[in-house]
Amino acid sequence: MCGIMGYIGQRNVVSVLVEGLRRLEYRGYDSAGIAYLSKGEIEVKRSVGKLSSLESILPTIPPVSPAGIGHTRWATHGKPSEENAHPHRAGSLVMVHNGIIENYLSLKKTLQDEGREFTSDTDSEVIIHLIDSFYQKGGSLEKAVQRATEKMHGSYAICVLSEKDPNRLIAVRSGCPLVIGVGKDEQFVASDIPAFLSHTRQVIFLEDNEIALLSSEGVEVHDLKGARLAKEVQQISWDPVMAEKGGYRHFLQKEIHEQPRAIVDTIRGRVAQEAGNVILGASEWVGDPAKDYKRAVLVGCGTSWHAALVGKFLFEQIAGLSVEVDIASEFRYRDPLLSEGDLVIGISQSGETADTLAAMREARSKKTPTLSICNVVGSSISRETDAVFYTHAGPEISVASTKAFTTQLTALTLLAIFLGRKRGRLSKKAGEALIHQLILLPNKIEEILAHEKRIKTIAKHFFRYRDFLYLGRGILYPVALEGALKLKEISYIHAEGYPAGEMKHGPIALIDENMPVVVLALKDKVYEKMISNVMEVKARGGIIIAFAEEGDNDLPGLADEIFFIPKIASVLSPILMTIPLQLLAYYIAFTRGSDVDQPRNLAKSVTVE
Ligand code: F6R
Repeated sequence: MCGIMGYIGQRNVVSVLVEGLRRLEYRGYDSAGIAYLSKGEIEVKRSVGKLSSLESILPTIPPVSPAGIGHTRWATHGKPSEENAHPHRAGSLVMVHNGIIENYLSLKKTLQDEGREFTSDTDSEVIIHLIDSFYQKGGSLEKAVQRATEKMHGSYAICVLSEKDPNRLIAVRSGCPLVIGVGKDEQFVASDIPAFLSHTRQVIFLEDNEIALLSSEGVEVHDLKGARLAKEVQQISWDPVMAEKGGYRHFLQKEIHEQPRAIVDTIRGRVAQEAGNVILGASEWVGDPAKDYKRAVLVGCGTSWHAALVGKFLFEQIAGLSVEVDIASEFRYRDPLLSEGDLVIGISQSGETADTLAAMREARSKKTPTLSICNVVGSSISRETDAVFYTHAGPEISVASTKAFTTQLTALTLLAIFLGRKRGRLSKKAGEALIHQLILLPNKIEEILAHEKRIKTIAKHFFRYRDFLYLGRGILYPVALEGALKLKEISYIHAEGYPAGEMKHGPIALIDENMPVVVLALKDKVYEKMISNVMEVKARGGIIIAFAEEGDNDLPGLADEIFFIPKIASVLSPILMTIPLQLLAYYIAFTRGSDVDQPRNLAKSVTVE
């Protein structure tokens, strides 16, 4: 939540910051601001709303400025307003902040008692006053930042610029992401890599309680006592073009279309088809590969939680491993019972979700081995777990998760095959057959995408409805949850996902001619039961939009609309079934005129609890 960016170097600071903030806008977009030097003085420009409204007040002639900082906000403390927008100023300093300072009220009181005046309702403004109060007592800016961090409780990633020392930027983090882009005679610091990916792919991941001192000549990273740390500069393989819209109307549409490629990249190098097995690198599995686990506990939030729910079916069916699934925000507060033989797996696209990170810390504090399934390389969760299995979806810019979800399901399938073989629950032949099906998946997704227009037509018939019900059974129940979430978050239509068998225990009361019911059906052992559920909906005047398998001859006669997905092994059907649901949500939202890439009230990376 909130994106921060800093730049020091010879380029036009304003345009570098605006370009970077545009790539970070997915993290928050209720206000934005930048600060830079102009004729030796700091100039702050802030505006409510999206970046475009900030752009309209920026100077057309580039200022000659060695450095600048910028921010795009997702409001926590204080409503979206110009006063609450960042950067915040105190004395000769300006600062941008991502995170929450939990003890800001007591700090504010002390600072007010010193005679300091506040102009915003934010917790963030307290930080810069605190730093300034130490800075004015003498010593370096680095020292003042260090001393301020000793007083602050909560989470933060901050970047500070001083009028008195304009050739340096100072950044520090605790609990919020911060990554440094190392260039030639220029440096960048940002909440996420895409902010500077078009300028450099050399990055340094800052850890908690590390301070970075950036000048155009280079970067030094210190601990909070001022000792210099040797940090590795890593090369990022993401192509800058991956973070562009590439001819699509929205990032969401592009990311839906990228799924065949993303899944190929996630599978690549990890399967030995003839051996019917999955090969994991040393850092991709926890501990001794021969060691068995008795139980896996899968945690995540939102879409990643839905992936965990599918993961339960995959691990139990393919590997015979018992699984519990937890919503990450619930996990640690119920003091979970973890014992010898448990493995906790955290699923997170961003790798920065505060609740999932906290859940993993909880597991580690109980000495339970942890594995993460993350998309963002070097993210906090990936670094704080014993092992990490990266999905290779590439940067996901649109706030609603699409390719991250299907690559998480791919990763979980690979892990299930690995476990199934290791535990002797999956034969070589069955492993080989499943891998074969996995390899066919990207082409089958292409087949679905080729019928995008059909979904667009369905969307045009239904975009005015106010409520939707999504029904699935078994492994498609979590997909019903995901389909409903996708619709509600980008179109603002109320939608609920339900296991179809539960309908008669309550939700059936909602059914009438104004309630489209999205039915997800496979020709499997619960097919007949699903048909009965469809009949129950129809008997009450409900509308059926069915997503069924090719070769299904019953549903076409019952459904008001039908879309077929290609046949695939049932354990892989969640991946295929998700694609038309993403397209349905996309086209309904688009037809309603919603901002599909940046839906209201949301942010991509939820780094606050
Ligand atoms: C929904 C969505 C969110 C995220 C959730 C977890 O489309 O994107 O529900 O799935 O905020 O985020 P990560 O996976 O980054 O931990």
